[in-house]
Amino acid sequence: MTESWLEFPKGFIWGAATSAYQIEGGWNEDGKGESIWDRFAHTPGKIEDGSTGDVACDHYHRWRDDIALMKSLGLQAYRFSINWPRVLPQGRGPVNAAGLDFYSRLVDGLLEAGITPFVTLYHWELPQALQDEGGWPARATAEAFVEYADLVSRRLGDRVKNWITHNEPWCAAFLGYAKGEHAPGVKGDWKRALAAAHHVLLSHGWAVPVIRRDSPGAEVGITLNFEWTMPASPSAPDYHAARAHDGYFNRWFADPLYGRGYPADKVAEYAAAGYWDAGLIRSGDLDAIAARTDFLGANYYTRMVARDEAAPGNLPPTEFKAPEAEWTEMSWEVYPDGLYRLLCRLHFDYQPRKLYVTENGASYSDGPDREGRVRDERRLNYLLRHFTAAHRALDAGAPLAGYFVWSLMDNFEWAKGYTQRFGIVWVDYQTQQRRPKDSALWYRDVIANNGFAR
Ligand code: FCB
Repeated sequence: MTESWLEFPKGFIWGAATSAYQIEGGWNEDGKGESIWDRFAHTPGKIEDGSTGDVACDHYHRWRDDIALMKSLGLQAYRFSINWPRVLPQGRGPVNAAGLDFYSRLVDGLLEAGITPFVTLYHWELPQALQDEGGWPARATAEAFVEYADLVSRRLGDRVKNWITHNEPWCAAFLGYAKGEHAPGVKGDWKRALAAAHHVLLSHGWAVPVIRRDSPGAEVGITLNFEWTMPASPSAPDYHAARAHDGYFNRWFADPLYGRGYPADKVAEYAAAGYWDAGLIRSGDLDAIAARTDFLGANYYTRMVARDEAAPGNLPPTEFKAPEAEWTEMSWEVYPDGLYRLLCRLHFDYQPRKLYVTENGASYSDGPDREGRVRDERRLNYLLRHFTAAHRALDAGAPLAGYFVWSLMDNFEWAKGYTQRFGIVWVDYQTQQRRPKDSALWYRDVIANNGFAR
């Protein structure tokens, strides 16, 4: 191989990711219950283009074709999520057998195609019935999650050996209760956001041993979203702004998962603001949250440059604003070096047994040209540069075991509706036709060769 060839370790897993609400559709079919995302998207004004996930990519009916598509790309693994109210319409209690059967068939189909399923239990579809009883700010929701995790891992655990309890607890808690951009759409209630975050983490910790029991030999982990955070200038105010953002976004979740409890600097800050309910954490909670896991999933898209705008006389925010900065259509800066630094930091600071990049990708709307080809070079380059960054992290010793591109196909991008396209496969929402973009064809070769030329 030439010098510019980047070879990945033997057994490195190449996959793609989706989530249930973003692709399935079939929102009220075969006994499925309502989720908070059904409710949120059906509320006028919540989704940028007024759309919903009612049909999305119609994957609920087209899953067989979608597996064939994955196979044609040579995907080795597929990360998807289970829609909680599809299997437990009321969140707990009566089981919807048709919903469980759907996922069971999907798993069988994947295994027949030689694709390893990575199952996420919670990618934000809380049953509305549980929301009506208080949602994640209520401790009982964490108990219901364990019942749900038990049900699914008993049914699929003979075949599924890779489990992710939660996707991005930061979003579920803070976008849901503080920013109001995600379901259930509560704005400014930091107290409930912090309670939600705690109960999501607690439900993870409680579920880990249950999944292990139900799914012998399985590996269990959780996926967090990370922003590589740096100060806008070397000034003290910007340094503190960066540290505060890192605490809010990254450490608040990673620290308790790795046995450090909640970061003291943030607890003090939240307590001073009156957001922190000291009675929230009961005895044993922190030990439960720190349950040993087999891997940490990291979702990485961009970095955060933090600047303390309020500090008098602070330095100008120019330090890290690289003039050549590129932005995706989500207005997220393309910053591959952040992935390298993040993976190294997770390895050095937390020492997870294994790391996966469980999501990485870019929103660009390039569509089919006259020949029907989708020339999405910008996405291809984004992926190439991030794979290269991941390779550097491997060289530095990070135990990175696999990489999941977000996303297998264009889909419903939450509050942005269908205005953003993250897929390596183009979806025509009128005809539901799928068409691999250039990035997908390139990715197919990366997988086949377990490496690529820079
Ligand atoms: C992540 C979500 C995923 C997708 C990407 C773009 O925060 O986990 O569902 O929306 O962002």
